[in-house]
Amino acid sequence: MTKILVTGGLGYIGSHTVVELVNAGYEPVIVDDLSNSQLQILNQLEKIIGFKPAFYQFDLCDEQKLRDFAASEPGIAGVIHFAASKAVGESVVKPLKYYRNNIYSLVNLLNVYSGKPVGIVFSSSCTVYGQPDELPVTETAPVKPAQSPYGNTKQIAEEILIDAITSGDAKKVIALRYFNPVGAHSTALIGELPIGVPQNLVPFITQTAIGKRQKITVFGDDYNTKDGSCVRDYIHVVDLAKAHVAALKLMEKPDFSGFDVFNLGTGIGNTVLEIITAFERATGVKLNYEIGPRRGGDVEQVWGDVTKSANELHWKAELDIDTMMSSAWKWEKYLSQNTL
Ligand code: NAD
Ligand code: WQD
Repeated sequence: MTKILVTGGLGYIGSHTVVELVNAGYEPVIVDDLSNSQLQILNQLEKIIGFKPAFYQFDLCDEQKLRDFAASEPGIAGVIHFAASKAVGESVVKPLKYYRNNIYSLVNLLNVYSGKPVGIVFSSSCTVYGQPDELPVTETAPVKPAQSPYGNTKQIAEEILIDAITSGDAKKVIALRYFNPVGAHSTALIGELPIGVPQNLVPFITQTAIGKRQKITVFGDDYNTKDGSCVRDYIHVVDLAKAHVAALKLMEKPDFSGFDVFNLGTGIGNTVLEIITAFERATGVKLNYEIGPRRGGDVEQVWGDVTKSANELHWKAELDIDTMMSSAWKWEKYLSQNTL
């Protein structure tokens, strides 16, 4: 079996990708320092895939530990690099934490696997587009000045990866620019685990519906959109996970070399109010919501052109908004009835 290092494999997107890797016949090896995840996710993964995947707990910023790991796990054929800190607001307050964690971990991986035939899949973000001039946004759209240190780490990381390809330190790299990942696995055994008050829309919705939060505030209804609230391209995390398998398969082709980048979205924009309506429709649960002021730093609208992903990555999102909402709700209910 082909061994794939999954950094951050106990996190939200990483854990779903571990499942899809196993479904596709790969052997995932997880490295995670549990800075934003729980060890119990390994047991949850076991319930889904039938065995406990190999797991190493350490901080990727520690290059020696990564070297020791590489020596003890020879034959890694690919790396999917999820591990990073991801809270946009926190990155403004603690920028050095973000530059250290997100950049050191990547540079260490590139150093340790330098010159080896190891394909790298990198978690980038639609945040690199800022507010695009044209919608839907394509991969050739200009990268806009970052709105946060977090966003900047994604831009810098893409540049580092391109330089590593140019120098020959890396041979094959695919950067995947995620739009807004939401939802949970159909078994409701894994999903998003926000620490503290969620900053993202869908976990805030599900926590409001379950009664953990009193109400949800819609951040602005005076944007130039169909109902005045912001537009995003929400994508089911299981679809997103499958795209990582597609990226590995593309890199396995003998004619693939160098750096490439793909949008991972559905190609459909939904407003915040449409998401609230979809949640109510899909779950039958009424949401207590109010309209509030705009949130600083939000772009008005963004959704992806996914033509390149369909044609070259041979991947397309399949799950609709109602499935995203019902799966997120099923996971929230699971969490309220079970301790992990
Ligand atoms: P997550 O926080 O759930 O998962 C990240 C995992 O990496 C966590 O388990 C954490 O413990 C681990 N980790 C962090 N730093 C580490 C380190 N130095 N060494 C070892 N492990 C470390 O986040 P996620 O939502 O699954 O996101 C995965 C990736 O996708 C991140 O790079 C994130 O920036 C990117 N991304 C996420 C979103 C989103 O909305 N969730 C959108 C675009 C891009
Ligand atoms: C979605 C929409 C909010 C909460 C962030 C990062 C981005 C990427 C994904 C990593 C916006 C509105 C939200 C609430 C609301 N992450 N909202 N009330 O801001 O598109 O993207 O996560 O790369 O970099 O910036 O996602 O889920 O926070 O917000 O009205 O309580 O929901 O204003 O329009 P966002 P989000």
